[in-house]
Amino acid sequence: MDEDFLHKKLNEREQQNAFRKLRLPDGKIDFSSNDYLGIVKNALIHEQSFPDLKHGATGSRLLSGNYELIMQTEKLIAAFHDAEAGLIFNSGYDANIGLLSSVPQREDTIVYDQLSHASIRDGIRLSFAQSFSFLHNSLTDLEEKLRAAKGNIFVVTETVFSMDGDMAPVAGIIRLCEKYKAHLIVDEAHATGVIGNKGEGLMQQLGLQKRCFARMHTFGKAVGCHGAIVLGTETLRNYLINFSRSFIYTTALPEISIAAIDASYKIFPGMNKERNHLQQLIGLFQEEGARIHYPDIEIMKSETPIQAAIVPGNDNVRKLAAQLAEANLDVRPILYPTVQKGKERLRIVLHSFNSMDEVRQLLETIFMHRQLA
Ligand SMILES: Cc1ncc(COP(=O)(O)O)c(C=O)c1O
Repeated sequence: MDEDFLHKKLNEREQQNAFRKLRLPDGKIDFSSNDYLGIVKNALIHEQSFPDLKHGATGSRLLSGNYELIMQTEKLIAAFHDAEAGLIFNSGYDANIGLLSSVPQREDTIVYDQLSHASIRDGIRLSFAQSFSFLHNSLTDLEEKLRAAKGNIFVVTETVFSMDGDMAPVAGIIRLCEKYKAHLIVDEAHATGVIGNKGEGLMQQLGLQKRCFARMHTFGKAVGCHGAIVLGTETLRNYLINFSRSFIYTTALPEISIAAIDASYKIFPGMNKERNHLQQLIGLFQEEGARIHYPDIEIMKSETPIQAAIVPGNDNVRKLAAQLAEANLDVRPILYPTVQKGKERLRIVLHSFNSMDEVRQLLETIFMHRQLA
């Protein structure tokens, strides 16, 4: 079979030292998964406790795939997040593309943070609306873009950024949205379970939830399951049921998955001990990381479990990640083109099950290797 066209693109990837491969877990100390609270690692959800639930939904929610448990769970999660209504999607990726491709119309404008996740960008690409990115977390640039926007305006940001771990200045963003009559859409993927007294997310922690047009929470990260919910008004929910293609044209999540999500929403709100320990680890990482200076490594400021050590160059960051793996530390390098050139990094994820000693060991190993490099 002639697959030269595939080889050509794959060779380009190899030449950039950016070829991706699937790896199996090998039991190293986990500084890479999104299981922030250890719900998966510690098997806190026992699927055996739901023996009678179905493993297949048999169709789209609009055909044979709707059922009582998913409707109830949407109501419970919406209530937990203080929203009028919620609609469950099969993943955060589906939720973002389904929301952004269907709501803004041709005459509208989407303004989004330049570091937005691929699922946000793909949703925008599928929409007919005009779109502009604004400089990461810059209210000045956002306002400039808002001044030029036409039609219904939608502003999109993550609340906790997936690669840098920093938080969006959401209070300022909301003020600008209100000034320019824009609708705010926030992606709380990395805030869910982690930020707020009960892990409700950043908007609720700041009491800003009622001023959002839509909030998206995922279940695949701290919640330890799979799927996502879009929260908003009942009208928005009805709209998505009617127009959102990634909701309509796919088989619904099965009962067994929804029961797991429901179980997790009964567990993670009470995991304050885990959230407090995470805060201690973040403090330790930032404090110790700031103390040591090398020209070719920069620990970025972050108050969340996502920490980034910038090590410019695909080769450099890959080599360092391999050295950490030899020291039994699982840290993944994030390469160009996933991040911009010069911003290649180790993406370090702290978890409630990591110990203070493990974090110290990680930092010492990073800096020992940079010294030798
Ligand atoms: C910010 C952000 N939004 C959306 C997603 C997609 O969520 P999911 O993994 O549930 O598809 C991710 C994770 O990959 C993410 O980091």
